[in-house]
Amino acid sequence: MDDASGLKNVIPSLLDNAKILDDTYSLACTVKNGHPPSNLQLEMPAFDHLTEIEISNIVNFIRTDLNGKKPISILDIKSQLNLCKQRNER
Ligand code: HEM
Repeated sequence: MDDASGLKNVIPSLLDNAKILDDTYSLACTVKNGHPPSNLQLEMPAFDHLTEIEISNIVNFIRTDLNGKKPISILDIKSQLNLCKQRNER
């Protein structure tokens, strides 16, 4: 788990995760708001005390260091966070 590979069938891996690598998916919203339980009744907690900069650092660590993708700008992170607020995503 320390290597970001998740926990089999319980917590998804942050490596080579198609969702995370899809640019239309907002990892920032998942970090901020958590994720409701789908199959195993286990929910991802929200990290809504984090600042936009902290969320940006987490998202970009996962993109660049873990997955070799280009970073996204703080402006993009801000607009994603505004959109997930508007859609009331949790
Ligand atoms: C900042 C750190 C974290 C990141 C970047 C992260 C990322 C993700 C992502 C991308 C998903 C998939 C959401 C989706 O399918 O749309 C997810 C789901 C999940 N996360 Fe996290 N996570 C983090 C921390 C945690 C922690 C600390 C826990 C447990 C205490 C956790 C537990 C879960 C669980 C259980 C799910 C699956 C929910 C379900 O579909 O049933 N996550 N996480």
